Amino acid sequence: MANLTTELSRSAVLTRSFRKSFPAAVRGEGVYLWDANGKRYLDFSGSAVVNFIGHGVAEIVAAMSAQAERLEFVHSSQFVTPVAEEYAQEVLHFAGENFQGGSVYFTCGGSESIEAALKLARQYQVEIGQGKRYQILSRHQSYHGSTLGAVSVSGNKRRREMYLPMVREFPHVAFPYCYRCAYDCTDSCRNCGQQYAADLEKAIIAAEGEAAAFIFEPVSGATLGAVAPPPGYLQKIAEICRRHGVLLIADEVMTGMGRTGRNFAVEHWDVAPDILVTAKGLSSGYAPLGAVIATKRITDAIAEGSGSFLHGFTYNSHPISLAAGRAVLKRLQREKLVQAADSARNESAAWHLARALQNLSGLEQVGEVRGIGLLWAVEFVADKSSKQPFPAERNFAGKVGQRAAARGLLVYPMQGCVDGTAGDHVLVAPPAVITPEQIEWAVEQLGEAIVDAGKS
Ligand SMILES: Cc1ncc(COP(=O)(O)O)c(C=O)c1O
Repeated sequence: MANLTTELSRSAVLTRSFRKSFPAAVRGEGVYLWDANGKRYLDFSGSAVVNFIGHGVAEIVAAMSAQAERLEFVHSSQFVTPVAEEYAQEVLHFAGENFQGGSVYFTCGGSESIEAALKLARQYQVEIGQGKRYQILSRHQSYHGSTLGAVSVSGNKRRREMYLPMVREFPHVAFPYCYRCAYDCTDSCRNCGQQYAADLEKAIIAAEGEAAAFIFEPVSGATLGAVAPPPGYLQKIAEICRRHGVLLIADEVMTGMGRTGRNFAVEHWDVAPDILVTAKGLSSGYAPLGAVIATKRITDAIAEGSGSFLHGFTYNSHPISLAAGRAVLKRLQREKLVQAADSARNESAAWHLARALQNLSGLEQVGEVRGIGLLWAVEFVADKSSKQPFPAERNFAGKVGQRAAARGLLVYPMQGCVDGTAGDHVLVAPPAVITPEQIEWAVEQLGEAIVDAGKS
């Protein structure tokens, strides 16, 4: 087991990188993971913003095992299952009033759910006699997944450039990113938020009746790094979409299921999407799981129209994944983890995290610390006053990630926040069970990793 690390660099697995060797993970408990050499890591990013309830929770494993013993799988063209029926009701309830009477389509993850949501939006428009509408508008610098439909609506330059000849391009609009605001504003984007929203209206008008939906991340996740929208922006977006008959799809793959201190992030801004997509925290990583949550209006249009959603995966509504998701939901409600993730709530885990991370703002390489709930980013700059990013080749965020891992701390490094290529940040998104002492230790390690990376 000891040299698994080196063997894995050319194993039978098509890994993320052939240039890097990965430690072999063998165990998890609470906020910690262990590798095969016995090294312990504090999971300060919930892997890739996945784990919310902590690792190694026995009751989730027990629920999955009980389901597997009873019934491991049936195909959704032949059966429904009690676990799917009950869990869908619970998810609709968790999603709030806007989704009462609606329905849930379960998948195996974020990208699959995005694909399903895009097709659902198109089918809805066809069902209501708007067959001309097929375009899905989205924002630059967004990330909606890695399947081709998701790549088509994503704005993440690095992850889509090579595949562009294979995807259908739809219009992308500008987005508010206040630290680097295109309008150079001084009011935290209060006014220019309205101008960014107006860009969407222009794009919808330019689409000449062909826009079916607009998809957005309420808080930008991987590409921009935990950028929350300015006040009034999302409300304006929602109003514009409604007025033009364009569906609103909230991509809450990363922000859903409590991560930002609300059941779903859109609740912070009182926005009621037509379709909401979630994954990651839905099962907290215990099994592959995603969900598309549709309002009653969308569901009724299909039910009363052609009568079936023309889409399907063999592993829709997989019973073992659903058992995992159901047990996770039960636990996060019982342990009040959404409240723990609320950074505005005194003494919550997120409150401690928000304060501790601000201590990094004084570092020479730190341009901005931003975020909400338990979803934060630290953006790095080569020059603080001009906000000049590091050259992309320097891979500053990657170096911070490596230095942190060497100290037993896991963060999620990303590049491209400035223009799709340049710009470095790390995401910090720990499980909601993290303690103030663990936060303090982790932020100290991260600070040292940043200083170390600055020396190389
Ligand atoms: C906002 C958002 N949408 C979609 C996805 C794709 O999800 P998955 O990686 O589970 O396919 C991600 C993944 O990071 C995401 O952050």
